[in-house]
Amino acid sequence: MAASKKTARRVLVLSGPNLNLLGTREPDKYGHDTLPTIHEALKELGSELGVAVDCKQSNHEGELLDWIHAARGKHEGIVLNGGALTHTSIALRDAIAAVALPVVEVHLSNIHAREEFRHATFTGAVCVGVITGFGKQSYLLGLRALVDRLSH
Ligand code: DQA
Repeated sequence: MAASKKTARRVLVLSGPNLNLLGTREPDKYGHDTLPTIHEALKELGSELGVAVDCKQSNHEGELLDWIHAARGKHEGIVLNGGALTHTSIALRDAIAAVALPVVEVHLSNIHAREEFRHATFTGAVCVGVITGFGKQSYLLGLRALVDRLSH
């Protein structure tokens, strides 16, 4: 009998518009870490936690929606920083609800301590939870929270 193959658990980390500019973009608000540095840290933490982590960023709403749809059957959950789409996109919210995968929303800055238009999140209500204000750690805490959710 062929040895059974154990497929590694996979999770997806998605970042939305303008997050490719991290490191130089308003560092007083978003810190000095670049997105590739954050992705590296997520992959490292993933291997400690026993999950494979795929990381993607797009400035295009439709591409993010396509990636969320494509996560079905491939990824067990998603860590999402939707960037400004958090505050504007019902389509992003509907995509999360449609795929019925656990999603943890993360933000580098504390959206509640900023302009009023950032206080509302369209996506937060269809996510498992929201982590906001811890810089790069928001992503890492988001991954820990997602993996914890997946193990229950
Ligand atoms: C952000 C907060 C959003 O309000 C903003 O539009 C971003 C980044 C954050 O990570 O703090 O692009 O999602």
